[in-house]
Amino acid sequence: MNRDFEFRQLLRAYRTGIIGEATFEQEMSKLEGGSAEAAANGGGFCAMGKMYPSERAAVVSYLDRVRAGESMGAQAFNKWLEVCRTECIRSGLRMIAEREAYHVRVMEARLRDLGVQPTAAAGEETMKFVQFVGNPDIPDAKKLLKLTTSYDSEELWRPVREFVDQIKDDLESRELIRLYVEDETSSGNWLRLACEALNAPAQRETAPRMN
Ligand SMILES: [Fe+2]
Repeated sequence: MNRDFEFRQLLRAYRTGIIGEATFEQEMSKLEGGSAEAAANGGGFCAMGKMYPSERAAVVSYLDRVRAGESMGAQAFNKWLEVCRTECIRSGLRMIAEREAYHVRVMEARLRDLGVQPTAAAGEETMKFVQFVGNPDIPDAKKLLKLTTSYDSEELWRPVREFVDQIKDDLESRELIRLYVEDETSSGNWLRLACEALNAPAQRETAPRMN
């Protein structure tokens, strides 16, 4: 039995629920000679806590998943812009909406280059997020608070940066993901600044400061 066959059997057992994640990882390590790291250098590719059959599979899965999320992100920020009552954050929201939308276009183009049809759909949590930020009855300051407490941090992006460093063959996708992370970090930093400005104590500020 060759290693590829064993790997496919193992993956099938995991996908169909015959074995759990812990057993899957343990068996993968054995299969690849004792460690997940060894697996990354062999037939498998370990990225962001998951095992993929190859670097390509990990890249495709990531691009497809993020594309679906960014598409919802673009919708969310555009909806927010429509109902936003705070003049000083409007241009930032518009900028982020554009970033989200162009991430979708660039990721779709890359998936096409790789011969892959995008299939991932956004999850329920993401749909709730779109409804939340598009809700005209929720104040902008509250939306910013929710966004900055539930989203974006160095810790959040660390596994993705590690993933970028692991990509050795598909350099085009690697640089795409690297720049995507920089964009998201920039959006996150701005959202935090806006949040601090709009949620500053009223006695200190008569008007929101964005610097
Ligand atoms: Fe995004």
